[in-house]
Amino acid sequence: MSSRSIPATHAEALYHTTYGGLPDGVWSSPGRVNLIGEHTDYTGGLVLPFAIDDRAVVAAGRIDEPVVRIVSSQRPGGIIEIPIRQLRPGSAAATGWPAYPAGAVWAVGDAGAPVSGLQLALDSAVPVGAGLSSSAAVECAVALAAAELAGSEMFDGPTGLQQLARVAQRAENEFVGVPCGLMDQMASAAGQAGNLLFFDVGAGTIEQVPFDPTAVGLTLLVIDTRAHHSLADGEYARRRASCERATAVLGLTSLREIDDLDAALAVLAVEQDGAVLTKRVRHVVTENARVEAVVAFLRDGEMSSIAADLTASHRSLQHDFEVSSIELDLAVDAALDAGALGARMTGGGFGGSAIALVDTADAAEITRAVEHAFLDAALDAPVSRSYSPSAGARRDT
Ligand code: GLA
Repeated sequence: MSSRSIPATHAEALYHTTYGGLPDGVWSSPGRVNLIGEHTDYTGGLVLPFAIDDRAVVAAGRIDEPVVRIVSSQRPGGIIEIPIRQLRPGSAAATGWPAYPAGAVWAVGDAGAPVSGLQLALDSAVPVGAGLSSSAAVECAVALAAAELAGSEMFDGPTGLQQLARVAQRAENEFVGVPCGLMDQMASAAGQAGNLLFFDVGAGTIEQVPFDPTAVGLTLLVIDTRAHHSLADGEYARRRASCERATAVLGLTSLREIDDLDAALAVLAVEQDGAVLTKRVRHVVTENARVEAVVAFLRDGEMSSIAADLTASHRSLQHDFEVSSIELDLAVDAALDAGALGARMTGGGFGGSAIALVDTADAAEITRAVEHAFLDAALDAPVSRSYSPSAGARRDT
């Protein structure tokens, strides 16, 4: 029990009103926006996300009973209680939204920490279904809390946050059952204020790349189409399966090994599903090249030069990877028509958010133009924000 007596955050207040007393601590982890490098992480590719300033917060306390209790301010319905002995993948004890925090506790225990009874109170500012990784934010915050309360040092040290990302990813892959890659959890765990996270998934290396569009008169708008995005509906898994099949047909271990794209496409084209495989692989290989180009522009201080690659990424996701949607295409096209320098969908697709790089002087007008395009198409108006690259997972109190 903490020696403090006044709850300082919503999560602490929720903990206090739900369970009585104060938590042992408060941990938080952010959502993310991906600048570029989409649907490349699960083929060992390159991604360039940043942690946003909306965070999932968990107030957590140890208890002497062998149960995990979970409550969330975003999910009315009271306390979920799961006996620790039932905390395993496939258990009926945690389904739906509680599977994300419960899975994180399970993954920490499975990675070797002596997890015992816990009470968790969650509160998140990351919009759900907006494609901004609200789930990775919850997984990373809860995993960090569970490990520290178990007295484990598994997430300490120079590679601790990368380990946190991997443990959080296992929660999602094995406990929740979504075959996501590692980008979202890595951005949430290891993002740093003021920087993009250049993550080479195949090599397992991360590098911070400074990113401050406002300093050069630019704004990165994040346009939430409010068309709900979900990875759990099978299309994501189908894209991943196609990439794995193409890798096998080519006799490779990763699509990163392709050095002659035309030759690879010729091999894939003669397969029964060649029309699909060639499009998927063309996206992945060209997208990795675009990430490298964008990183090079940013290192040279040529921020506005990245715009063409952002838009090319969208066209590739729209036509070759086929993960865009009517709303995402509308947001991108309306932003470009209104003068955005470049625009693309961000995240897994099929709904969620788009990003647009704009001159700051034009930001308000472009935002309005996108809203009007949605209203003209009889769609709900999107919500546009601008996020700054922010800190990754941490203990707050
Ligand atoms: C989702 C997944 C990530 C990544 C993106 C697409 O956000 O969780 O692992 O595959 O889609 O880039």
